[in-house]
Amino acid sequence: MTILQAEHLKKSFFDPKRLDVLSDISLTLCAGESIAICGRSGEGKTTLLHILGTLEAPDSGILTIAKIQVTPRNAHRLRQQNIGFIFQSFNLLEDFTTLDNVLMPARIARLPTDANSAAYQNAIENLREVDLLNRAQTPAKLLSGGERQRVAIARALCNNPALILADEPSGNLDRANAQRIGQLLIQCVNVKKKSLILATHDPDLAALCDRRYLLKDGLLC
Ligand SMILES: Nc1ncnc2c1ncn2[C@@H]1O[C@H](COP(=O)(O)OP(=O)(O)OP(=O)(O)O)[C@@H](O)[C@H]1O
Ligand SMILES: [Mg+2]
Repeated sequence: MTILQAEHLKKSFFDPKRLDVLSDISLTLCAGESIAICGRSGEGKTTLLHILGTLEAPDSGILTIAKIQVTPRNAHRLRQQNIGFIFQSFNLLEDFTTLDNVLMPARIARLPTDANSAAYQNAIENLREVDLLNRAQTPAKLLSGGERQRVAIARALCNNPALILADEPSGNLDRANAQRIGQLLIQCVNVKKKSLILATHDPDLAALCDRRYLLKDGLLC
């Protein structure tokens, strides 16, 4: 089954002058598949992930998620139902605890998050898997870089999405932590049968994926 299909996506920015970031991007991702998108800084990896994750709209092209074509009207719902996002800069809520951060997607989706809820049980399980259950009540601002990244992974899994988009998940981590994050993400694909699109500079992380692309001059090759 195809979880995501992108056809001829284009994106330019006009601030301060015209910059054609994505020229013609087509991509098909099947359920349970993982792909890595590599490329130099500034080539447009984050822009592409934001568009694939419906956080930003392309200038033209068609994006289909779980067999439904994305429109401005349904983008929010399709994102909540299908996608977990691991951002390049974590985007944790600093004054909230680890557990609150992990539960945030469920709260945004207005799902119950009390201690008996499925979302809460799932959050606890995900925190256990990323080895952070003992930090559940710690405010995010006190966590280390590796811990923050693991919170971001647990949060991405909160609503049990079929597709995970991970933007430089090992970007600021040391070798050991980068490997650990890579293993956690690949485990999501192999054990939880998620699909994964990963933007990375790290060849070792890219090597763990089923397919690898280079984003260069606005094209995937
Ligand atoms: N909102 C915006 N307005 C204007 N230019 C932008 C905007 N967002 C991104 N850009 C530009 O688009 C280009 C691609 O940015 P993007 O963040 O997608 O690159 P990247 O491949 O993720 O880089 P990195 O590896 O450093 O994270 C950059 O030149 C950036 O300055
Ligand atoms: Mg980026």
